[in-house]
Amino acid sequence: TNISIIGVPMDLGQSRRGVDMGPSALRYAGAIEKLEELDFQIIDLGDIPINRPAQSDLNDGSNLKNLKQVIEANQQLGDMVDQEVKKGNFPLIFGGDHSIAIGSLAGVSKHYENLGVIWYDAHGDLNSEETSPSGNIHGMPLAVSLGIGHDNLINISNYTPKVKPENIVIIGARSLDPGERAVIRDKGIKVFTMHEIDRMGMSQVMEESIDYLKERTDGVHLSLDLDGIDPSEAPGVGTPVLGGITYRESHLAMEMLEESGIITSAEFVEINPILDEKNKTATVAVALMGSLFGEKLK
Ligand code: ARG
Ligand code: MN
Ligand code: MN
Ligand code: MN
Repeated sequence: TNISIIGVPMDLGQSRRGVDMGPSALRYAGAIEKLEELDFQIIDLGDIPINRPAQSDLNDGSNLKNLKQVIEANQQLGDMVDQEVKKGNFPLIFGGDHSIAIGSLAGVSKHYENLGVIWYDAHGDLNSEETSPSGNIHGMPLAVSLGIGHDNLINISNYTPKVKPENIVIIGARSLDPGERAVIRDKGIKVFTMHEIDRMGMSQVMEESIDYLKERTDGVHLSLDLDGIDPSEAPGVGTPVLGGITYRESHLAMEMLEESGIITSAEFVEINPILDEKNKTATVAVALMGSLFGEKLK
């Protein structure tokens, strides 16, 4: 397979500027070269244009910041991802804040009866306008993909829902808002929090996640938020949470996913080079991409 890279320089889904530079940081850290070394054919589609709003439309008074721009960008991303899947290419999306998962899933999910999702993240991103403590749409994309949220968000690409709750596995959660806990409980979403990672070890967590998804899905999207990793190793993120997954555990997780062969699309999000230390976080992301695409076997 060929890998199609789509950069999404989006920072409007949250409140700290700089995560729009994530795609550049990943390119600068050598993402393309790494994948080429692994003998993949890379189709770099560049970055999609993000419309920066004037100061005056930054807050329309609702609890959905920059809603219009987030919808526009995700509609465009969804269309591009859809095209790449149609051509048989593997979509690899460079964020951008996590709101872009709305478009990634909109583009990918229509091609599968039962799309699986691995949400590798300190957060659940299961908020809605009603439950969000921040109004930041990057805290909402998984809910949106389940069909929970503003009509214009859930209907991007003109269908909803994109994923079924039983096809989702969240890994690394350690900061969940009350409304998110309720969604997890009500929908029966499988979650491996840091508690389970500590108790079971990452190896067991991944084995169970892979077995679980293998028996019920026909493709799996990996949505990897760099804040899933401990901030000591991935400091360049806007919403760091102590006590995260280690770099080594993350490599193991990526290697096990690669061995399983279940991953059919992926995104690396929330890298903010302004908050980073010498591009450390993008460098971690590129190393993890190496493992996800089979570096161990080389
Ligand atoms: N739960 C918080 C919120 O809704 C933080 C979300 C962080 N999400 C992320 N993709 N980093 O605002
Ligand atoms: Mn579908
Ligand atoms: Mn997060
Ligand atoms: Mn996230």
